Amino acid sequence: MIKILFVCLGNICRSPMAQGIMESKIHKKGLGGKVLTDSAGTANYHVDEAPDPRTLTALRRNGIELVHKGQQFKEAHLQEFDYILAMDRNNLEDIQKKVGKSSKVFLMRDFDRVEKGADVPDPYYGGVDGFEKIYTILNRSIEHFMQDKIVDVSSR
Ligand code: 4NP
Repeated sequence: MIKILFVCLGNICRSPMAQGIMESKIHKKGLGGKVLTDSAGTANYHVDEAPDPRTLTALRRNGIELVHKGQQFKEAHLQEFDYILAMDRNNLEDIQKKVGKSSKVFLMRDFDRVEKGADVPDPYYGGVDGFEKIYTILNRSIEHFMQDKIVDVSSR
């Protein structure tokens, strides 16, 4: 089993969207039971809350239903997960403050072959178009991540 945790600030916009996209790709690629994904926020503002309605709408427009309750990133996640993917540099720094530097922790867009190493912009204070934009970024980055890291998981 490979376990992947997506991390943003609030765990209501970017990281749950990434989780929904990843769950959909796991299902489509027949990797259920082999790859597992979850999401968390570095802050505790939205613990136990549902994802932002704009994230759920962007997912639904692409045929994806997500059920998730906000949780805060914690030290134990480092042991539990194989990959921890931060949405932006601030998230990466906050993760490192909590668990130190680890070879399991990456920026999500380290895997984006179009704009490698960029941040996934925080859409919280913007309009709905920002959520459509991050859907495109995340869909592409996660596809590239899976091509790089989840290649021969079917033989495990
Ligand atoms: P996220 O977006 O980190 O992508 O979930 C945000 C959600 C909430 C807040 C900031 C960013 N907030 O300040 O409450």
